Amino acid sequence: VHALVVYESMYGNTHQIAEAITEGLAETFSVTVEPLWRAGEALTGGPELLVVGGPTHVRGLSGVRSRQAAVQQAEEKRLELDGSAPGPGLREWLTQVRPPPQTRWYAAFDTRAAGRAWLTGRAAPKIARTLDRLKLRMLGSPESFLVDKQNQLLPGEVDRARAWGQELARSLVGESR
Ligand SMILES: Cc1cc2nc3c(=O)[nH]c(=O)nc-3n(C[C@H](O)[C@H](O)[C@H](O)COP(=O)(O)O)c2cc1C
Repeated sequence: VHALVVYESMYGNTHQIAEAITEGLAETFSVTVEPLWRAGEALTGGPELLVVGGPTHVRGLSGVRSRQAAVQQAEEKRLELDGSAPGPGLREWLTQVRPPPQTRWYAAFDTRAAGRAWLTGRAAPKIARTLDRLKLRMLGSPESFLVDKQNQLLPGEVDRARAWGQELARSLVGESR
């Protein structure tokens, strides 16, 4: 099985989580991880599983404005921008993504502030809604990985992401039996 993990990331946290999920999947599958701007090309490789993640902005998917705000906040808070920060963002990408016929499964994740999901909002269910409409089938359920007020991943989140990747691989093996 070939899997593709794609991510949007302004400050690098979602990128780091995407890499850890990839490590988890790689124990069972051949996996590629790419930022959104390279996702189109990577999709032509025909992955069976597509894993999509991004940061939660304004309770949902990032948009052009929230991404601009993120760039401004990076200067104020002295956060370093990820290599993928110039975009595109998930909101634009999801409107035009056309997965190839080999892609039957997806999984969705986000990063968000620690706290109750009904207060913070979550991007992952919104990713899931689009991919459902494209008739892909979801593996597991949308998952969040948490950052603190300084935009640093909470301790243990990278390990949890690796374990989540392992779990996705196991459930896909179960499904395709
Ligand atoms: C403009 C902006 C809006 C945000 N809005 C939310 C929000 O509504 N809920 C939330 O949990 N986190 C919010 N955050 C925090 C982001 O979720 C956090 O920066 C992100 O998960 C870090 O991922 P990254 O390092 O990959 O960009 C916001 C951040 C920015 C920059």
